[in-house]
Amino acid sequence: MKKCLAAVALSVGLVGSALAHDPVEDAIAARQAAFTLMAANFGPLGAMAKGEIPFDKAEFARRAVNVEVLSHMPWEFFIPESDLGETKAKPEIWSKAADFKAENEKLQTETAKLAAVAKGGDEAAMKAQVGETAKVCKSCHKSFRSE
Ligand code: HEC
Repeated sequence: MKKCLAAVALSVGLVGSALAHDPVEDAIAARQAAFTLMAANFGPLGAMAKGEIPFDKAEFARRAVNVEVLSHMPWEFFIPESDLGETKAKPEIWSKAADFKAENEKLQTETAKLAAVAKGGDEAAMKAQVGETAKVCKSCHKSFRSE
C-alpha cells in the first residue's frame, strides 16, 4: 500500500513538473501547434484545388471544418513578450495589433465560407474558396511572420 501511494505521488509529481513551463514558451508552442494542424488540414485542400490529388468531397468538407475550427485558436497565444524566443512572430504583431487582428478575423471569415461552401458541395466554388483562404495565409505571413 505504501509503495502504491509512493508511485501515485511520484507520477503526480512528474505530471506537475511537465506542466510547469515558462508561459511564453508554452504560448509559442501552442500557437505553432495550431498553425501546424491548420497547414496539415489546409495542405490537402490546396492539393485538391490544384488537381494534384483527387477531389474527394467528404474529405474536403471534413478538412474545411477542421481549418475553420483551428482558425480561432492561435491568436490568444500571442501574449506579450512572446516575440522573443523560438518564434517567427514579428514585433509588428504587437506594434500594429489592429492590423494583425484584422488579418486573423479575415482568416476566420474566409474559413467559415470555406466550410459553408463545402457543405453546399459545389466543386468549383469549393476550389475557388481554397484560393481565397490561401491569400489570407500569405498576406499575414508577409506582414507578420519572419522568413
Ligand atoms: C493573422 C496572421 C496569420 C494568418 C492569417 C495565418 N498565419 Fe500562419 N503564422 C502566423 C505567424 C505570426 C506565425 C509564426 C508563429 C510563431 O513562430 O510563433 C505563423 C506560422 C505558421 C506556420 C509554422 C508553424 C510552426 O510550427 O512554426 C504554419 C505551417 C502556418 N503558419 C500555416 C498557416 C496557414 C496554412 C494559414 C492559412 C490557412 C495561416 N498560417 C494563416 C500568422 C498567420
